[in-house]
Amino acid sequence: MKKLIIALMLFATPMISMGSSSAHLDSAGVDLGDKESLQRGFKYFVNYCLSCHSAKYQRFERTANDLGLTVEDVKQNLMFTADKIGSTMDIALKPKEATGYFGVTPPDLSVITRARGSDWVYTYLRSFYLDESKSTGVNNVIFPDVGMPHVLWELQGWQEARFKKNEHGQMEFEKFELVKAGSMSTEEFDGAIHDLVNFMTYLGDPSQMERKALGIKVILFLLVLFVLSYLLKKEYWKDIH
Ligand code: HEC
Repeated sequence: MKKLIIALMLFATPMISMGSSSAHLDSAGVDLGDKESLQRGFKYFVNYCLSCHSAKYQRFERTANDLGLTVEDVKQNLMFTADKIGSTMDIALKPKEATGYFGVTPPDLSVITRARGSDWVYTYLRSFYLDESKSTGVNNVIFPDVGMPHVLWELQGWQEARFKKNEHGQMEFEKFELVKAGSMSTEEFDGAIHDLVNFMTYLGDPSQMERKALGIKVILFLLVLFVLSYLLKKEYWKDIH
């Protein structure tokens, strides 16, 4: 009985942590086979996220190898928070200082796509809207009262959210309206966030690609073994009947 309760609790946790919002999630279109997308995502991640969030379960070196980048390229262009290629992706910001700035500590992002789901992260990063009542000046449709500022405003620009009353009399998100354009069009920004979340999905389970490739090899090997053993069996039994 105890085991059953524990199993049920484990099963229920992701649903609870999904938060209270029932907002619709857009598909991130994850494709871990697209190395160029992963490389672009890595660059966005290092440039826009690592200043506040760590990814302390991941080393720069492994990322370079997995994504087909040279160690030199990563060292020169992507390592602002560490000086050794074997370092993990830590941040300079101390958790205490961060809590002072934002009221909360920005969580480590190593496995956030597994905790929240890639589609959730994809939708979240595109759902910041202007809200003067907040100290950061923004709010988020799927993470109400979030402590994170809209760090990608230069790319996306600023948008307002329109809400409407649903049949139960509650306010429901209807749509966004761009009030100030950023350096990217909406399609370009969605593409950039797709790359970023693609990379973060890789980050949540870096050996996934290897594992899949190995799985295919193992199955091919078993097939060959099956044919050989069948032929061998026929050979052994042929005089007995
Ligand atoms: C200026 C600091 C800062 C930067 C830069 C920043 N964040 Fe955040 N982020 C925060 C804070 C603070 C929170 C905690 C929000 C809360 O709990 O209210 C947060 C929360 C999040 C969450 C939700 C975590 C959860 O609780 O499930 C995600 C996902 C996230 N950030 C992703 C990103 C990504 C991706 C980037 C880069 C594009 C980024 N953040 C850049 C400060 C930052």
